[in-house]
Formats: sequence, structure tokens, C-alpha cells
Amino acid sequence: MHVPVMVNEVLEYLNVPVPGLVIDATVGGGGHSAAILGASPATVLIGMDRDPEAIEAASKRLHTWADRVELLCADYRQIPQLSFERRWWPVRGILVDLGISSLQLDSAERGFAFRKPGPLDMRFDRSSDWTAADLVNTTERDEMATILRRYGDERFAHRIARAIERARNKAPIRSTDKLAEIVAGAIPVSPRHIHPATRTFQAIRIAVNEELRGLYEFVVGSARLLAPYGRLVVLTYHSLEDRLVKQAFQYLSSDCVCPPRLPQCACSKVTEVEILAKPPALPRPEEVEANPRARSARLRALERW
Ligand SMILES: C[S@@+](CC[C@H](N)C(=O)[O-])C[C@H]1O[C@@H](n2cnc3c(N)ncnc32)[C@H](O)[C@@H]1O
Repeated sequence: MHVPVMVNEVLEYLNVPVPGLVIDATVGGGGHSAAILGASPATVLIGMDRDPEAIEAASKRLHTWADRVELLCADYRQIPQLSFERRWWPVRGILVDLGISSLQLDSAERGFAFRKPGPLDMRFDRSSDWTAADLVNTTERDEMATILRRYGDERFAHRIARAIERARNKAPIRSTDKLAEIVAGAIPVSPRHIHPATRTFQAIRIAVNEELRGLYEFVVGSARLLAPYGRLVVLTYHSLEDRLVKQAFQYLSSDCVCPPRLPQCACSKVTEVEILAKPPALPRPEEVEANPRARSARLRALERW
């Protein structure tokens, strides 16, 4: 079962118990949603996920509160449009817990895990037609290195990209264990004992699912959906996604976005939110020890003015 990250902090920053509508934009296995519903008898929750299997798992985990829950298989980037069409108003809270769930990671056939032999897939939404195998077997070497460096902070990006190119020239790379073996053979063993393919798998997953596309716009758009005093809480696990969320928060909280050289403010920007977690909240050491997935988590939160 997926163990939700920073649950107490999420409840605190969402201001639970909160009466009214809360949207869990990445419901996953329903861990955070269960905590919210359990602690807040007057909350009605909409849970969304791009992965139909996550929606199935969440519907089982949340069945106790079925009369207060609506689950929807959709991309969170559609929330501004959906809320307009479906009249989701007033929205008291929105939670976004980015990244991957243990349900996805633990299932070998989903192809996310380098420790489990399986097809090189990694799609959150299996109806999309672009898999990790497509990316690995067709992406030009320099572009592959850029993906590995940008989304995986991989120091040995060029070496790995070269090794992938050499291997696929012999035969297409179709499985997780084959890719893990190629990466392990291309780079030195990490002194920190993390598996050599960790960063490569993360980078490829982010690229296959275009996880950063539209994140900034989504954060700005969803904050604007909140009712006064409504809260937005975002959990990130990677420096690039965290930077996009931080920049969106800064934009929302600023009262002027004019270029600095203008002698006088000429924009009509107003402060729209107050940033609550500054600097971002981090998991407690006990939580990281108990749940290594929490290791890189950062929680950012804001309140709508
Ligand atoms: C870290 S898990 C969420 C776990 C959840 N908070 C829990 O407690 O069980 C992230 C989830 O976000 C989903 N996801 C990723 N990108 C998405 C998107 N653009 N729209 C909706 N869901 C997305 C993934 O399928 C995954 O189930």
C-alpha cells in the first residue's frame, strides 16, 4: 500500500478540518484523501488521477466515505476547465502530490522499477501511445543526454546516452532490467549506494509523462479557483518541479511584475495569495527513516486572499 508523505503537515496546511469542497488532484492510492476525509466530517472531496488503476485503488480505499467522494480519471492540468464546466465552487482546498505512487512503482508490469524485470513502459496513463521504450529506442543521443541531465541531475548523462545508443544499435531495449544493466555498466558505482539506474529511470519517467509541462500554469490557475482563505498545498520531489511551483507562488504573491527598469509601476498585478510555508516544509527525520520515498519531499502551501 502507498504510504502518504507528510500527512500531518498536509492536514495542517490545508487547514483540516475544512468544511466544503477539497480537490485531491493526484489521489493515487487515496492515502492523503483518507486522512482528509477521516479528519474532516464536513468535507466533500473530488479525487483525480491520470492513472485509471490509481482511481480503482482509491475507490477501494475511500469506500467508507463514498457519499462524500467523487473520483475522476483526468489530468490535473484540466482542473481549471473542469471546475468551470462542472461548477466546482467554492473550492476550499487543493492538494497536489506530484510524482509516482508505490502502487505504480511496485507493479513490475508498469515498468517504473529498475529492480523489477518488466516491459519498459512508465506511462501514468496507459492509453497514451508514447512509452519509455519508444523514448529510449528513438531519442537521438545528445537529446537523451539532455533529458538525463535535466530531469535526473545525472552527472554521467553523456556516458549513459552513449551506452544506450550502442546497445540499441544491436537490439531494441525493451525491458527495465536490460536498461538498468546498460546504465550500471556505463557508470561508476555510487558511493552513496543508490542504484546506478535511479536517476536515469526518474528522468525517463518525467520525460515520458511530460510531468513538468504546464505545471506553472496549473499552479497559477488552480490558486485562482480557491475561495477566499482557501488553501493550495503542493508536494514536490524534484528540484525542477519545485522551482516551477516556487516561481508560480512568487508570481501569485507579488503586487508588481513590471521590469525593474521602469520608474513607476505600470502593471495591474495585485497580491493574490499569502505564502504559508516559507521556506518549504520538509519531512521529519523519523518519517524519512520510516518511508524513504519522503526523502526528497518539499511541501509548499499558500492561502488565497
Ligand atoms: C505520489 S502519487 C499520489 C499519492 C497519493 N497522494 C496517496 O496518498 O495515495 C502521484 C499520483 O499522481 C498521478 N499523476 C501524475 N501526473 C498526473 C497528472 N498530470 N494529472 C493527474 N494525476 C497525475 C500519478 O498517477 C500518481 O498516482
